[in-house]
Amino acid sequence: MNEIVNYYDTLASTYDENRFNNTYGQFIDNQERKILNKLLTNKNEIILDLACGTGRLLNYASLGVDASRAMVEISKAKFPEKTILLCEAHQLKIEDNSIDTIISFHFFMHLEEKKIDAILEECNRILKKNGRIIFDIPSRKRRKLLGYKNKDWHGAKSFSIGDLKLKPNFKLKKTIGFLFLPIHRFPKFCRKFLIELDSLLAVSFLKEYSSYLVIEFEKK
Ligand SMILES: C[S@@+](CC[C@H](N)C(=O)[O-])C[C@H]1O[C@@H](n2cnc3c(N)ncnc32)[C@H](O)[C@@H]1O
Repeated sequence: MNEIVNYYDTLASTYDENRFNNTYGQFIDNQERKILNKLLTNKNEIILDLACGTGRLLNYASLGVDASRAMVEISKAKFPEKTILLCEAHQLKIEDNSIDTIISFHFFMHLEEKKIDAILEECNRILKKNGRIIFDIPSRKRRKLLGYKNKDWHGAKSFSIGDLKLKPNFKLKKTIGFLFLPIHRFPKFCRKFLIELDSLLAVSFLKEYSSYLVIEFEKK
């Protein structure tokens, strides 16, 4: 088992509490759901949650995949009616051209580019014609501006919109930024206003200076 999967295997039982039961985690979760609600409007699609973890976003998907046994056990307990496969994202036990949309959050940011490319190739294989993959990634321009330095693999990968346009198997359809402002650090009473402002900045020419980008890729 690789280091990253090993890490999530150990973290699984406390992941939801540890990552999402705090102001920052709840803010991120809300923003991601807002974006997914906008992008996932066709209720008849077959949607795969790639690296579904504990199933945080599995309510959007018909099936899930994760390489951590402990994560899969938790998501299966939450969503017993869904198919959740234990497998590596670059070797999916899923048929060619069978999925309409893949969603994948908080995943690519932990991986090296070679691995991301292998996973994108595998996604391309399982997606139907014009199928989409929607994922989040830290914005490289923001990180450059702030002089961000990663300590290890955790959240280390970032992309610019220019980098993403070069990926061979997919056409970049849409990019949406989020967390331009550190909203979770402001007092509660002004957050509602700041969230609106953040959402406006996130679709403006400044979007690449948001902390994260949500990418919508379409299969070429
Ligand atoms: C930060 S969690 C994200 C979980 C979920 N997508 C979310 O947003 O809450 C990263 C997940 O990626 C999974 N993972 C790591 N490497 C993987 C791989 N090569 N194939 C499939 N899943 C992997 C981990 O087991 C973990 O559940």
